[in-house]
Amino acid sequence: MLKIDDVTMQFGGVVAVNGFTAQIDEGQIVGLIGPNGAGKTTVFNVITGVYSPTKGRILYGPDLNEDITGKRSDQITNLGICRTFQNIRLFKELSVMDNVFIGNHLRLKSGLLSSLLRLPHYRKEEAEAYEKASYLLKKVGLYEEREEKAYSLPYGMQRRLEIARALATEPKLLLLDEPAAGMNPQETQDLMEFIVEIKDEFNLTIFLIEHHMDFVMGICEHIYVLDHGMMISQGNPSQVQTDQRVIEAYLGVE
Ligand SMILES: Nc1ncnc2c1ncn2[C@@H]1O[C@H](COP(=O)(O)OP(=O)(O)O)[C@@H](O)[C@H]1O
Ligand SMILES: [Mg+2]
Repeated sequence: MLKIDDVTMQFGGVVAVNGFTAQIDEGQIVGLIGPNGAGKTTVFNVITGVYSPTKGRILYGPDLNEDITGKRSDQITNLGICRTFQNIRLFKELSVMDNVFIGNHLRLKSGLLSSLLRLPHYRKEEAEAYEKASYLLKKVGLYEEREEKAYSLPYGMQRRLEIARALATEPKLLLLDEPAAGMNPQETQDLMEFIVEIKDEFNLTIFLIEHHMDFVMGICEHIYVLDHGMMISQGNPSQVQTDQRVIEAYLGVE
């Protein structure tokens, strides 16, 4: 589904990501871990077109035949890659429902003109969009809160709303940047189950960054470990957990 091929991202003198190579197969949940400043979010920024890599390529699709290196973020969203952010980005003054509408709008077929003229096919799309948003909100357990402003929701709910908005773009590949950040153990456990559930229901491939080790080890089939922009380890959870380089760099020597 995705191949990151020898990607380097340099900001002036800072090499945030250094020759990173990774592959994610369709239907997998793959993890990306590493200490703060390791370059994890930068990897997501390069995949989603926030930055164009200094070097290397990003290939996407069932046959990896789509070279998305340097494409714009909106083009990449249209190809089916969507993400959430380490620092939640919602339209805080808008309702929960409208936040999901915005995700959906990115893929509505009608143009601005037909929406202004309220042409029949636009109204049909709107009705469908409302139904779909309602479905997604029920799915993430936020339907009762649909009229509330996004900022009024507790933290864990805001994270789930962000995922609902991402799902509204109908992604094939979902990137989650620290989805459990700030959650308590129960919320974290619920989120794990929720991610597996939406993966199956929406046929997703998931690439996620996370600090909660139980979360990463419990949910990911394959894990890449970054440290100072370099990949220092990869493998299944037990391989990574017992890798001495990972223990030293990340888990702390015990
Ligand atoms: N836009 C940018 N300009 C300059 N430096 C950046 C930029 N984005 C990230 N960095 C630097 O790249 C390194 C990796 O950052 P980041 O990818 O956010 O790490 P992580 O998500 O693993 O904590 C850090 O040293 C950070 O300061
Ligand atoms: Mg980060």
